[in-house]
Amino acid sequence: GPERIVVIPGDGIGKEVVPAAREVLEAVGPDFEFEEADAGDAVKAETGEALPEETRDLAANADATLFGAAGETAADVIIPLRRAVDSFANVRPVRAYPGTDALQPGTDLVFVRENTEGVYAGHESEIAPGVTTLTRVVTESASEEIARYGFEYAAERGSRVTIAHKANVMRTTDGLFLDTARRVGAEYDVDADEALMDALAMHLVQRPEEYDVVVCPNLAGDVLSDLAAGLVGGLGLLPSANVGDERALFEPVHGTAPDIAGQGVANPSAVMLSAAMLLEYLGYDDAGERVRSAVTATLESGPHTPDLGGDATTSDVTEAVLAKL
Ligand code: NAI
Ligand code: MG
Repeated sequence: GPERIVVIPGDGIGKEVVPAAREVLEAVGPDFEFEEADAGDAVKAETGEALPEETRDLAANADATLFGAAGETAADVIIPLRRAVDSFANVRPVRAYPGTDALQPGTDLVFVRENTEGVYAGHESEIAPGVTTLTRVVTESASEEIARYGFEYAAERGSRVTIAHKANVMRTTDGLFLDTARRVGAEYDVDADEALMDALAMHLVQRPEEYDVVVCPNLAGDVLSDLAAGLVGGLGLLPSANVGDERALFEPVHGTAPDIAGQGVANPSAVMLSAAMLLEYLGYDDAGERVRSAVTATLESGPHTPDLGGDATTSDVTEAVLAKL
C-alpha cells in the first residue's frame, strides 16, 4: 500500500511552514497517505501532554514523519519522537545557497552525528553537594552503525569522509569510536581523514569547502553542526533527518520563531529541504532531487522572505517553488 507519512506541524511557524512542505510533497507525486498529528505547547495546554500517546504511536508506526517545531516543550517532544523512530543517525546537510548572504559561500557539507549515546546517554548525577559527574557511553555497535551510515552516504554521493574525534584525550571512549570508524572505513572505496574536533571547529570556520561528510560523536556533532550553520547564515535554510533502520523523522533545524510567528512570513525552505530528505529516505531519489532543485532555484531567483532580505510571504515562496516543480 501507500507509504504512511505522519505530519506534525507543532507550534508557531511550524503551523505555517509544514503545510507548505506538505503541498510540495503532494505535488511531486508518490501516493502517500498523510496523517496529521499534534505535539507541542498548544496541545500540552489543552491536554497536559506535549507529546500525546496517539502522536507518538503514529510516528512509531509511520514510514516517515515530518515535524515542524515545538516551543517551550521542544525537548519533551523531540527526544521521545527521535526514540519513537529508533533513530541512530542525525543527518544535517549545511550548504550555502547562491542568492543568499552566506558568510562562507563555499560551504557544502553534511554532518552525520551519532544520535543515541556519548555524553547525552543520560548518566549524570550529583554525587555530593556541589560535586557532579557524567558518564560518557561509547559502544562499538553504535560507533559501527554511525560510521557505516556515514561511509555509505559518502560512497553513494562520491564524496569523502572526515572522522571527528578527541581520542588523544578521551583515549578509551573516542579511541573505540575512532578505531571502529577506521575499521568500517577500510571496507569502502571512499577517501577518509581524521580530525581532532577542536581543530576541526577552527578549520570549518576558515575552510569549510574542504569538508564533505563529517562523522561525529553525539556532542561534537551537536556543536560543530551549529557552528557550520552559522557559516551559511539562516536557520530558515537548514534541514535535518533523524534516521533509523525502519523509520525516520525529518525536521527543520529551526524552532517556532515566536518573533515572526503568525505573520505568514516564515521561510519554508528548511522544511521543504527536510521533505526532500524524506523523499530520498523512502527511495524517491528523483522526486527528492526535484524538490531540492526547485527550492535552490527559488533561493537563487527569489522571491525571498524577510530573513533573506526580501518582503515575500511564506505563500509567495511556496507558489514559486510549486511553479518550478
Ligand atoms: P528559532 O529557531 O525559533 O528562532 C531563532 C531566530 O531565527 C528568530 O529570529 C527567528 O525569527 C529566526 N528563524 C527561525 N526559523 C526561521 C524561518 N523558517 N524563517 C525565518 N526566520 C526564522 O529559535 P529560538 O528563538 O531559540 O527558539 C524559539 C522557540 O523554539 C523556543 O521555545 C525553543 O524551545 C523552540 N525550539 C524548538 C526546536 C524544535 O522544535 N526542534 C528547535 C529550536 C528551538
Ligand atoms: Mg543542537
